[in-house]
Amino acid sequence: MPQLARPRSSSLFRRKPLTDTPADSGLKRVLGPGSLIALGIGATIGAGLFSLTGIAAGDNAGPAVTLSYIIAAIACGFAGLCYSELASMIPVAGSAYSYAYVTMGEVIAWIIGWDLVLEYAVGAATVSVSWSGYVTSLLSGWGIHLPARFTASPFQTVQLPDGSSASGIANLPAALIIVLISMLLIRGTSQSARVNAVIVAIKLSVIVAFIGFGIPWIDTTNYHPFIPPNAGEFGHFGFSGVMRAAGTIFFAYIGFDALSTAAQETKNPKRDVPIGILGSLIVCASAYVLFSFVLTGIVNYADMAGDPAPVATAIDRTGITWLQIAIKLGIICGFTSVLLVLLLGQSRVFFAMSRDGLLPPLFSRTHARFHTPWLCNLFFMILTGVLAAFLPIAELGHMTSIGTLLAFTIVCAGVMILRHQEPERERGFRVPGNYIIPVLGILSCLVVMVSLDILTWIRLIVWLVIGMGVYFAYGRRKSLLGAQE
Ligand code: ALA
Repeated sequence: MPQLARPRSSSLFRRKPLTDTPADSGLKRVLGPGSLIALGIGATIGAGLFSLTGIAAGDNAGPAVTLSYIIAAIACGFAGLCYSELASMIPVAGSAYSYAYVTMGEVIAWIIGWDLVLEYAVGAATVSVSWSGYVTSLLSGWGIHLPARFTASPFQTVQLPDGSSASGIANLPAALIIVLISMLLIRGTSQSARVNAVIVAIKLSVIVAFIGFGIPWIDTTNYHPFIPPNAGEFGHFGFSGVMRAAGTIFFAYIGFDALSTAAQETKNPKRDVPIGILGSLIVCASAYVLFSFVLTGIVNYADMAGDPAPVATAIDRTGITWLQIAIKLGIICGFTSVLLVLLLGQSRVFFAMSRDGLLPPLFSRTHARFHTPWLCNLFFMILTGVLAAFLPIAELGHMTSIGTLLAFTIVCAGVMILRHQEPERERGFRVPGNYIIPVLGILSCLVVMVSLDILTWIRLIVWLVIGMGVYFAYGRRKSLLGAQE
């Protein structure tokens, strides 16, 4: 079996050989293609679709937000194809981290593993805060009022029942959902996958109901003009608005890659992981395009600007009140499965890094009965729970986007490098068109990254600098690959 050349042991860029999946990872192989597609959908459809579509239509793109969804789907499609090729060659837990270790060397792999914390753990904390907001509002609609100061972080101001305002203490519902999901993940991957499948079925039904009941209420005059003329500033309608909206709703696609972190729990990863990635991407993109088309057909985009809940407004116009509750339920379910798969992905990335010696062994210790990396789940339960309870994490949502885009870029580059280094190696799935798609993938991710604000970039750099400190203090000295060499 051809192996990659090993550089000097002192090299930061030492690469893991491209060997087959280790026979015994301690994780159980329980997932098939259906579960993987469900995991992909579970991690993807959430806040992005239900909360951002209206904002992007009202502020940036008008009815052409549908076009923005198609553009973002194409960019994610490039990355999805690249993920599929690498997953079919390197079917191990750890996803982009593992791919980078084989193709670009240890330090890049470390950077990507560290960066994925932004996508998975910070992403999960962000979503848990939104989850808390929706649950609090649903309960208060039923007359159950949670104490306001315990539903917000100390950085937020809340209104008390006597009309006065005070700062929050801790967002306990957000922390609670993180604890519950982490417990479920510790219980086992197949249980988690089953719960995820039920949640996915509920949220897809809600989307289908919205589309089905909404179509008769479409007023075609709302589609004119389809791309409203630019209002004089970049990103405010016109073509630039469509692109800016694509950047905003990119968040809605985040997560489809998370299923590749479960490759080592998949029965036939070389075949099933590509099916899972591309299948879930196709389902999500179709749902997003149809949903946004119906939404902008029912409510005029001009009415959506400043409306905090355009989906609710659209349902009000149909007069179907039960759909209102069903949609809220769908949103809460949507958030729950996003959390489930993001936290699953996070633990599997640290599991892989720990098995390589770059992180302490506790992260790869599996539970004797449940066969899950339970200490890793516990660690992230505490970390993510604390972030969710005490930080104004909603503002860090852009960190999730930039972290994901960096991961996508490295994965696309990884495909090109492996094509060059290992042209003859068998690929369960091969991206068509030689280097074209990886290059387009890198370009489209960079374009979206550049559209993000400077503060997000600074935070990313600070996070990566901290990561390098940890690498030099621990990972580089304890690396198994370094020791072998
Ligand atoms: N794509 C996920 C969502 O929209 C993160 O909630």
